[in-house]
Amino acid sequence: MRRKLAAGNWKMHGLGESLAQIAELAGPAASVDCDVLICPPATLIERAARAAMGSAIAIGGQDCHARETGAHTGEISAAMLRDAGATAVILGHSERRADRAEDNRAVRGKARAALAAGLMPVICLGETLEDREADNTLDIIAGQLAGSVPEDPAGKPIVIAYEPVWAIGSGLTPSPDQIARVHGFLRDRLAHRFGRSMAEATRLLYGGSVKPENAATIFAVADVDGALVGGASLTARDFAPIIAALDAA
Ligand code: PGA
Repeated sequence: MRRKLAAGNWKMHGLGESLAQIAELAGPAASVDCDVLICPPATLIERAARAAMGSAIAIGGQDCHARETGAHTGEISAAMLRDAGATAVILGHSERRADRAEDNRAVRGKARAALAAGLMPVICLGETLEDREADNTLDIIAGQLAGSVPEDPAGKPIVIAYEPVWAIGSGLTPSPDQIARVHGFLRDRLAHRFGRSMAEATRLLYGGSVKPENAATIFAVADVDGALVGGASLTARDFAPIIAALDAA
């Protein structure tokens, strides 16, 4: 009942010329039974949405403010993302949790704003290497899930992305067993809090060094409904085979 999702996080990469990658992805995205989402930097959202128009590719933001409007220089609201053509937004990415000191409460406020504006939040969580080595992974994940997901998503879809901080951009990935353990735990925690049907409907993405070479192995893991991909989403050459691997899984 869950439709698989391949999401690309371009981070602070991309100028106008990068829109050609979206045009190149239109064919691969049309030929699979999965959702495809690209989250370019905010400056490209409107142009990316135009480039993706009529295709199976959705466009998302990488962050939003918790307020609708106001005196917050440099910030972008969820309604502004929606107005620019986004339908989703990544929230609580570990780079923002680290660089901008975003805590679970802040992420929850942003997720609420996203839902209110009609955006699908992709809420990120994951342990650091120290957490994992201290055998604290599930405690950390439980705390982030409890704190970052709004009390009442009111039947609106949310997506959770499990991204171990030590796997992001490092070329390292957890073993299939390690991923299965966290994803199964996330599904159980969601069921405990929101009920089985919400937990069964919520897509759980894995993120952190997903590449064309390891995608099939990761997508074969139980409870992995897709991926949040950084570096390998920047070119259609790398992202298209990941999308194909997800479709085949
Ligand atoms: P990566 O990034 O695929 O480059 O490791 C993933 C992410 O940060 O979302």
